[in-house]
Amino acid sequence: MTQVLAGKVAVITGGTSGIGLAIAQRYAAEGARVFITGRRQEALDAAVAQIDGEVTGVRADAASATDAEALYAVVREAAGRIDIVVANAGGGSFAPLGEITEQQYRDTFDSNVLGTLLTVQGALPLLVDGASIVLLSSTTSALGGASFSVYAASKAAIRNFARSWALDLKDRGIRVNALAPGSTRTPGILGLVPEDQGQGLLDSFAAQVPLGRVADPSEIAGAALFLASPDASYVNGIELFADGGLAQV
Ligand SMILES: NC(=O)c1ccc[n+]([C@@H]2O[C@H](COP(=O)([O-])OP(=O)(O)OC[C@H]3O[C@@H](n4cnc5c(N)ncnc54)[C@H](OP(=O)(O)O)[C@@H]3O)[C@@H](O)[C@H]2O)c1
Repeated sequence: MTQVLAGKVAVITGGTSGIGLAIAQRYAAEGARVFITGRRQEALDAAVAQIDGEVTGVRADAASATDAEALYAVVREAAGRIDIVVANAGGGSFAPLGEITEQQYRDTFDSNVLGTLLTVQGALPLLVDGASIVLLSSTTSALGGASFSVYAASKAAIRNFARSWALDLKDRGIRVNALAPGSTRTPGILGLVPEDQGQGLLDSFAAQVPLGRVADPSEIAGAALFLASPDASYVNGIELFADGGLAQV
């Protein structure tokens, strides 16, 4: 069977868990050589062991310019070019207005916004013309989120990165799209609340979704595969919602 990404080189930040790991597994299964990152070496080693195919793990904090430089030095040495970048690393935490701290703001915006910027900007010299860039947004880029405004604002910034960078990169035929998952069962979303409240949180999210359930990470990976694939050759600057209909109705 033809592999959709045969011969392609993909960098996926935050590829050790949840959505990023599912994307890395799917891309590798479709023939891509994948590079994944994360801040925890142990998680990185475990993720590499869970990905069948050509995979390299590089410990890197997306919010560090030095780490980005080191990451791309590894990619340049090993692969010489990049066809696909998925800026996935990130996360958030709950805090209602009035209880938001400067530290929470900085942590969220550093990983989600600065991290995405450094990931994409650092990749530019290695990106081939016609490459695909996928930025992980969220339904919160378009919807309000109670006690989740800092995260939501960071994802609204990501949505505009996709619009503006599609313009900045037009002379190279590089496509830039945002991918907005709805609630997805990952360690990240479960980590928003104490362990014994995780299922309750997922159930409350599922109740708001027209499909009546949260997503499996593999369903987000399917959308990420589409955006990276030749089938999306004329798809540029969009935000693709894989949200069970949550933000659509
Ligand atoms: N799950 C959802 O419902 C959902 C919905 C919409 C959007 N999203 C977005 O999808 C992306 C993945 O979320 P997830 O739920 O799969 O999260 P997750 O399970 O917590 O995984 C996050 C991954 O990113 C890495 N990471 C976090 N901050 C990083 C940093 N500064 N530098 C490098 N790696 C970093 C983590 O590894 P380390 O901790 O070891 O660094 C891990 O590999 C995020 O951008 C999130 O905002 C998720």
